[in-house]
Amino acid sequence: MKENPFLISGYISPDYFCDRENETKMVTEAIRNRRHLTIFSPRRIGKTGLIRHVFYTARQKKYFLPVYTDILATSSLKEFTECFGRSVLSAIATSESGLKKILKKLASLRPKISIDPVTGEPSVSITVNNKKEAVDSLEIIFRYIQEHRKHFAIAIDEFQQVAAYPEKNVEAVLRTHIQQTSNVSLIFSGSRKHILTGIFSTPDKPFYNSTQMMEIGKITRESYKSFIIEKFKNNSFETESSAVDLILEITSVHTFYVQYLCNRLFSLNVKVDNEVVNKMLFRIITENEAVYASYITLLTPLHFRLLRAIAINGGIQNPTSSEFLSTYDLGAASSVALAIKSLTEKEFITSIDGSYSLNDQFFNSWLKYKGGSF
Ligand SMILES: Nc1ncnc2c1ncn2[C@@H]1O[C@H](COP(=O)(O)OP(=O)(O)OP(=O)(O)O)[C@@H](O)[C@H]1O
Ligand SMILES: [Mg+2]
Repeated sequence: MKENPFLISGYISPDYFCDRENETKMVTEAIRNRRHLTIFSPRRIGKTGLIRHVFYTARQKKYFLPVYTDILATSSLKEFTECFGRSVLSAIATSESGLKKILKKLASLRPKISIDPVTGEPSVSITVNNKKEAVDSLEIIFRYIQEHRKHFAIAIDEFQQVAAYPEKNVEAVLRTHIQQTSNVSLIFSGSRKHILTGIFSTPDKPFYNSTQMMEIGKITRESYKSFIIEKFKNNSFETESSAVDLILEITSVHTFYVQYLCNRLFSLNVKVDNEVVNKMLFRIITENEAVYASYITLLTPLHFRLLRAIAINGGIQNPTSSEFLSTYDLGAASSVALAIKSLTEKEFITSIDGSYSLNDQFFNSWLKYKGGSF
């Protein structure tokens, strides 16, 4: 069986990665100039992939020591510290011959070492029992970073999560350490734009104006088209140019959905033409029907009608215009404005280049199909 070149999770190597040349340069340049960065974009556009790509290259060139940590599954300062500590200490342990040094110098953190059965690399975990221990442990970890001569680039993915912790001083605690540690560049990343801008662009917040804000947009249509054609061609599959255009049309060039559709098409092992693409789309949305039905139970009737209207309309710049409201029978502009806010916060929709559209491109297709315009 041929190896599928279209990844739908994780990162392997530049071979599987489309474009992002400018973004890669921008992130690398910010780190090498010791600036902190906040990367944000709607869900599944490719923030994590970009960070992984930058770190992959950096690891080979040894520009800096990359540390990646994902805090999505954390719900308190204690859990943050365990997650952050594990990522930082494991990265140091992997890059340093003297594992014993960590055990000795950081004995107060009670580090536990295990060996990853797949990579054979050491992983160092710490246990934190309460908030006081968390604050002390962070102090020790940042001091340990400062003692190294290496430059660290530490990515904290899904950073908006800290806004949901019960402790309200997490940002202030982190900000103090970051200011005192000169050999570290932080990359904060996440998809909840209003929470991230709340953290980084509100004057009375600790992180106000302390990072370079970087919004990640979509990969260009031309780049993605060449990438898709090349990957199919390298595996001796034919693709019709108009079928690749159709893939990009259906998915609105939204990274995950492009990857997913191409991944499924690749596994069919046939020539890719318009009919094959349409059939596959139909199969995907039929498979997902139960998921869409559960989305709908989360929505009020107005939210549902508004989402369907946005899908059928192919996005909307001004959702409270009288023309849009009357065409789709949406009622009062004030209620629609509130619904737009709520659907944005729930990440059902997003505003890109001044136009609102659905995040989930397959749900978008399903709504269009159910609305009769598939
Ligand atoms: N430049 C790229 N080329 C090819 N595939 C990519 C690229 N960037 C990301 N991907 C793939 O697209 C999918 C979504 O990307 P990723 O997880 O990086 O998005 P994200 O913005 O971090 O999403 P989330 O907000 O949900 O965390 C992943 O399967 C990833 O492998
Ligand atoms: Mg991500």
